[in-house]
Amino acid sequence: MRIGILTGGGDCPGLNAVIRSVVRTATTHYGSEILGFRDGWRGLLENRTTPLDVAAVDGLLTRGGTTLGSARVAPEHLRSGLPEMKGVLAEHGIDVLIPIGGEGTLTAAHLLSQAGVPVVGIPKTIDNDIDGTDLTFGFDTAVSIATDAIDRLHTTAESHQRVLLVEVMGRHAGWIALHAGLASGAHLTLVPEEPFDVDEVVRLVCERFERGDTHVIGVVAEGAAPLPGQMPLRDGGVDEFGHRRFTGVAQQLGEELERRTGKEVRATVLGHVQRGGTPTSFDRVLATRFGLHATTAAHEGRYGQMVALRGTEIELIPLADAVARLKTVTSSRLAETVAFTG
Ligand code: F6P
Repeated sequence: MRIGILTGGGDCPGLNAVIRSVVRTATTHYGSEILGFRDGWRGLLENRTTPLDVAAVDGLLTRGGTTLGSARVAPEHLRSGLPEMKGVLAEHGIDVLIPIGGEGTLTAAHLLSQAGVPVVGIPKTIDNDIDGTDLTFGFDTAVSIATDAIDRLHTTAESHQRVLLVEVMGRHAGWIALHAGLASGAHLTLVPEEPFDVDEVVRLVCERFERGDTHVIGVVAEGAAPLPGQMPLRDGGVDEFGHRRFTGVAQQLGEELERRTGKEVRATVLGHVQRGGTPTSFDRVLATRFGLHATTAAHEGRYGQMVALRGTEIELIPLADAVARLKTVTSSRLAETVAFTG
């Protein structure tokens, strides 16, 4: 069998571990061949490939990023490029394609599958917002990096009796903020799922200092927003993929807090640090298991599916189910932070 593989969307720790797992499983267990497409769907559209064998994936388990490269491609470009992509796959004799990616990549995988291409998807995103899988690899690494950063911010905030707001990734889903906030003992966690009340944040900050606490640490997901009319965020427009450009919610909330509380406030934006570097052992294991099970599914002809973690087992779920909606933070999970807020 000949398997095509690509990594699409924003990169994520564990992508290289998946590539290694697919290549090793396919070659050593099934005697199959693997062809990598460069830079996600763009490489498939432009017919840019790289052969992958066991030697090519040596040392990849621990390396961050993706050796295949990644890129975002606008959905309309993908739709109109379907015939080209099918042509390129046929030209290389690809029997099954294994795309590894987040919501955008898996939606494209579903499109291709509907167009008759045998596909087995693998979910990845540090945001952990793919539905149908308990976790995606990359998330644990991102949470660990954010937690370490917040632990460090606690001591400097204490020394200066400051309010420190830490902005973490999370466009539509606040999973990183929620988990890093719980893990680091943050006093406040703001997520995209629930607009925050600026008056309430001001009250919480004042109350902490009034009762003699030394500092405040707030974790703010980049997609968090205040209640309508309270503190309009600057408009950054949208990028070429239709994604809203963020303008720094932590910085803007910080300015408002400083004005209204008289306390010193600083904002720290963790940004792409959360996506870089070596994956945690948890993510290496999850990525390796995803790669192994996706390759097995490919050889068993179980197409149009995506591997998913359910409890401790890896299962297959229809791509259609996985991309139907995003997995966002539930109100019951948010309620768990109440005892630790303030
Ligand atoms: O992968 C998803 C994500 O991490 C979002 O949380 C974030 O908004 C986005 O990537 C930023 O990615 P980029 O700067 O590469 O477009």
